Amino acid sequence: MKFSTSLVFSSTLYGASIVYATGDSPGCNANNCLRAVRATAFPTRPGTADCSSYFSTTVVQHIKTVDWTRTTSYATIIPTDIPAYASACDGSVKYSSACSCIGATPVTSYVCAPGWDKCYGQCYDLSRDPRNCGSCGNKCPSGKCVNGKCASNTCNGSYCGNLKSCGKDCFCFKDASGKGSCGPNVSCKKLKGCQTNRDCKGGDVCAVGTCCGRKVCLGSCSRVPRSLAIRDEDDGEEGWTAGSEPEAV
Ligand SMILES: *[C@@H]1O[C@H](CO)[C@@H](O)[C@H](O)[C@H]1NC(C)=O
Ligand SMILES: *[C@@H]1O[C@H](CO)[C@@H](O)[C@H](O)[C@H]1NC(C)=O
Repeated sequence: MKFSTSLVFSSTLYGASIVYATGDSPGCNANNCLRAVRATAFPTRPGTADCSSYFSTTVVQHIKTVDWTRTTSYATIIPTDIPAYASACDGSVKYSSACSCIGATPVTSYVCAPGWDKCYGQCYDLSRDPRNCGSCGNKCPSGKCVNGKCASNTCNGSYCGNLKSCGKDCFCFKDASGKGSCGPNVSCKKLKGCQTNRDCKGGDVCAVGTCCGRKVCLGSCSRVPRSLAIRDEDDGEEGWTAGSEPEAV
């Protein structure tokens, strides 16, 4: 028993005497390479599995949320190891061809980078994405996601020079009634002056603690008019609500 097994082993290894019946795809020569890959005489050899692994491409998807847009970077990992038993294949072209002959096909799998999870086919950092906070589609009304949990905005009001955060690009100001209010960092020059909240329209508050040096009407972070948010050539000398030194000329 033992003896006959080793006989089969050696004859296959040297490819001398065994000729397999064809049944392969057209163009598949029953050469030593294909024999080694097909491995009929080696029931324990994972020929097909090795081929699948050789053909598989893992694409690490890494999609970041930056300013409410996504940037994508791909890292492609292509396994290149040809198993030692297939040394008769002499290179990737012949090995790939033999693998195709036994029915292995290329497979691409998409995985998220470590720490990122898949939502709707794309990868997000659920620990801090305010639109997918902790789980896919969990939007934080506060726009603030900390360690996978929506954080509430405990904005009690803060002042220029020591402004607290209300989330990304959003700051905690104090309004004329003494309450906290989350507002954007926008150019002071375009903001209407005020004394009380009633002087401001459309839900804006009269913010007293900004870096504008005067009381200004300020909307909420989600309603920043584009014209205010965009940096323009002529910022004026007043600076920005959340502070920035007017550039010295
Ligand atoms: C805001 O005020 C509340 C009540 O006075 C207090 O419990 C909380 O710690 C304050 N939050 C901040 C961020 O200062
Ligand atoms: C506010 O915006 C200005 C202009 O873009 C910037 O220079 C400044 O650093 C911002 N302030 C904060 C606190 O992010």
